[in-house]
Amino acid sequence: MERLDKTLSKQLNIARSEAKALIKKGSVTVNGALAVSGDMKCADSDVISVDGKKITVNKYVYIMLNKPKGYISATEDKNEKTVLELVPKDMQRKGLFPAGRLDRDTTGFVLITDDGDFAHSILSPKKHVDKTYIATLDRPFTEEVKSDFESGMELGGKKLQKAELDAVDGDFKTARVVLREGMYHQVKRMFKKHGITVVELKRTKIGSLELDKALAEGESRYITETELQNIRNS
Ligand code: URA
Repeated sequence: MERLDKTLSKQLNIARSEAKALIKKGSVTVNGALAVSGDMKCADSDVISVDGKKITVNKYVYIMLNKPKGYISATEDKNEKTVLELVPKDMQRKGLFPAGRLDRDTTGFVLITDDGDFAHSILSPKKHVDKTYIATLDRPFTEEVKSDFESGMELGGKKLQKAELDAVDGDFKTARVVLREGMYHQVKRMFKKHGITVVELKRTKIGSLELDKALAEGESRYITETELQNIRNS
């Protein structure tokens, strides 16, 4: 159950005071009856309409964004452009944040949501939700690098979880990396330990959910219920 003014404010992306004003004006009905107060509690199943138009009540939203370079994974910043600015206006709502961080120069799959528990569950190393990256390297990686990645490498005094490393091309300069945790600059630092620089980095998958190839850089779309289950069951 949630207060009506809070639900309206979230769903319509308006201030709580504007939601209250709509109710006062007589624009809002709940299950066909005129709503008189913002503090009325509504259930997910209640049908809320504004000026006769039904609004869809989604408790939480889950958005797949194809992040371009030049944006930081934050909700707001004084100096930098954030991934939240890329979410189209009609998909904006209060409480959205990126679940996990990509570096400013990393591209690809960012999941944006307002569901804190879900975000925690995909970020926690204990939950084993894999993140897959394609890394372009300045020099080929060797078998020795692969076995260090895959046995759980030591990095900065910490023992990492086992990762996967495979060549995508014949010359071992484009690699697919799968991680189960998300330490700061992790992929870059793992290669750096072996004297290799990551020139380009793109996240292509979270769990078993692949970044939609139809999304151009900067574009986003909602993640469907089925896709969400795929991530949850990853
Ligand atoms: N590892 C990195 O080094 N950078 C990212 O953005 C994500 C993973």
